[in-house]
Amino acid sequence: VIGNPIAHSKSPQIHKMFAEQTGQDISYEAILAPMGGFAATVERLRKEGYKGCNVTVPFKSEAYGYVHGSLTERASTAKAVNTLKFDGETVTGDNTDGVGLVADIKCNYNFSLIGKRVLLMGAGGAAWGVVLPIFLEGVNNITVVNRNKEKAEEIQEFYFSYYADNLASNPELSKNKEPFIACRYEELDGQKFDVVINATSSGLTDEMPPLPHGLFAPSALAYDMMYGRETPFMKFAREHGAAVVSDGLGMLVEQAAESFYIWRGVRPDTAPVISALRAAK
Ligand code: ATR
Repeated sequence: VIGNPIAHSKSPQIHKMFAEQTGQDISYEAILAPMGGFAATVERLRKEGYKGCNVTVPFKSEAYGYVHGSLTERASTAKAVNTLKFDGETVTGDNTDGVGLVADIKCNYNFSLIGKRVLLMGAGGAAWGVVLPIFLEGVNNITVVNRNKEKAEEIQEFYFSYYADNLASNPELSKNKEPFIACRYEELDGQKFDVVINATSSGLTDEMPPLPHGLFAPSALAYDMMYGRETPFMKFAREHGAAVVSDGLGMLVEQAAESFYIWRGVRPDTAPVISALRAAK
């Protein structure tokens, strides 16, 4: 996994557990690339015979640019790459963050997204990365809320055209006529959501996005993509009626499992790995 900083990454530990569990002989290391040194680092790994790598902050959009033309749909819609796969001269860019989030919600919480009203907070890279996989679960709609509304509108507009382009080939999509909404926080007053996802960086500074009270529908799920400690959003969700409150540790493990599958063709069991990481905290 290439990042900067990278020392804090749990990914080497997660992939080591996957390898032990599945009997795969792998090498997975945390590699610090200097700013401006991402492409050179990838070239070195390719020469050394690696099968691929993960990419994390701050290189996900640079990785997207590095992969010329060979992107999966979920990476091209996310405009970011977190998984590279090397096959001879070919490098494929994928993004497993969104499917990781969906897998955690569906498999680990047994929470169906079908027909749900989803509120996605934030319109930066973390938000872009998860819209398509959430949408493809058959949600009722996705409202993207951001302080800077224009950034939320960029996501809305991109997916409006994506939706129009794909309508003919995917009848599932046509069930919903107005799936993407963009707004600012003040416009949320009086609305209810079944799923509220925090994709902002507010937790890093212990800040709370300005959410109104009365936001959570009965049985609502509140999900923070951050992990490591309870964020102000998670505390707010517990105090304001969310039925399930989750941090992003499961998403981290699930995205890793999907990357492991891309490289090795074997799907690891994520539950014991999530439990081991929670127990080690
Ligand atoms: P990332 O790649 O992690 O998404 P980013 O591109 O810097 O990081 O985006 C950060 C997101 O968190 C933005 O949507 C930002 O909102 P603005 O665009 O309105 O600035 C959001 N954000 C950060 N701190 C926030 C806070 N305290 N409350 C609400 N939103 C916040």
